[in-house]
Amino acid sequence: MPHTPSPQTFRPAGPLRGSIAVPGDKSISHRSLILGAMAVGETRVSGLLEGEDVLATAAALRAMGADITREDDGTWHVHGVGVGGLLQPASAIDCGNSGTSARLLMGLVASHGITVSFTGDASLSKRPMGRVIDPLSLMGASFTASPGANGTQCFPLMLEGAHPAVPITYRLPMPSAQVKSAVLLAGLNTPGITTVIEPVPTRDHSERMLRGFGAQLDITEEDGARIIRLTGQPELQPQDLTVPGDPSSAAFFIVAATLVEGSDLTIRNVGMNPTRAGLVGVLRAMGADIEELEPREVGGEPVADLRVRHAALKGIEVDPAVVPSMVDEFPVLFVAAALAEGTTLTRGLDELRVKESDRLATMAAALEAVGARVEESEDGLTIHGTGGEPLRGTANARIKTHLDHRIAMSMAVAGLASRDGVEVDDVSPIATSFPRFESMLSAVTPRPA
Ligand code: S3P
Repeated sequence: MPHTPSPQTFRPAGPLRGSIAVPGDKSISHRSLILGAMAVGETRVSGLLEGEDVLATAAALRAMGADITREDDGTWHVHGVGVGGLLQPASAIDCGNSGTSARLLMGLVASHGITVSFTGDASLSKRPMGRVIDPLSLMGASFTASPGANGTQCFPLMLEGAHPAVPITYRLPMPSAQVKSAVLLAGLNTPGITTVIEPVPTRDHSERMLRGFGAQLDITEEDGARIIRLTGQPELQPQDLTVPGDPSSAAFFIVAATLVEGSDLTIRNVGMNPTRAGLVGVLRAMGADIEELEPREVGGEPVADLRVRHAALKGIEVDPAVVPSMVDEFPVLFVAAALAEGTTLTRGLDELRVKESDRLATMAAALEAVGARVEESEDGLTIHGTGGEPLRGTANARIKTHLDHRIAMSMAVAGLASRDGVEVDDVSPIATSFPRFESMLSAVTPRPA
């Protein structure tokens, strides 16, 4: 189906005030459906993110035999097929815009004796799949992928699963929770012990949830690397899960409230898993006023309410070591940096080039178009901030978002802190991760955004 873009202008709308709860965590939502589908019996999930990406995972699991339904009160029910129980789907699995659906489901399928075609939208079809094809091939799966730019292997592709698959020890060549999770999910239906070595820690939701469902997972540390050993073919027990709010969605409101004078906004139920919460520390180091209220646990994950008040920001050099803990938050951090006093320097961001868009190039172009001063290097951006002066905004240009939800929402935040407003070419991808973003923004600003 041809995609019809939906342009939108975001204008200054006054301070952000009041209290909101952002939708469920996208990473945790995908995993709750996937592991629910691998358990025998009924898993119940509340707070599931009902964004297009997660719905793509639900549709894929249904097509492979899981029974997944939603009750009117918003609770999701997953009747799993058990480890090893996936059925051959009747048609191609369409992952839409979702890299997480693509890579996690490829892992899951790789150790089942079924053959599955995977497709996705124009953005997903450009993203590299070799990073999961490599380890899953070592486990015995075979692939026929489409050739991408620079010799990459891309969607659409055909995966022939291996049964039985071979357990491997795999050292991640890049910090990617999707690759780690793909190997662990393939390891579920593999006899013996599948081992992933993670030199740089990435989000650990898969490990936490696998344990919660009763899998045997042994995690140790050696020379700074995490070694994760999964014992294959467990009988997973169905769970009652509550998905915490997504820190990556909260990020847009945290930065917006920080930038817009007079703001005082509370964001409830935000996931604060240390492998995800890097943005809060970086913004605080820049001078942000973010208070953590009522720290608690929800669904085996740390959670807090965040009270964010406007504060002037100063540019900093961002330590590349924090990158994995805020990898999806850089687009909106760049907006914060564009309004800070002085220069913000970021490095170690090569992975941003293979997200829903090339987020370094896309954000450099977007920020320049609204009057910011940006230099792009191979692995980062250097941004010279305005010191609080509003950005000019888009005059006759429309920001190109390249089917990337986080670019659209980041530039919406830039619009709130601009003189003339910011027009983005397409807000429809926002529905992949945060369908109610625009209505929530209007609800916390007195004037229409
Ligand atoms: C995700 C991992 C990250 C992140 C993505 C979600 C996950 O991707 O950018 O939005 O749920 O595992 P990488 O594994 O490519 O870093």
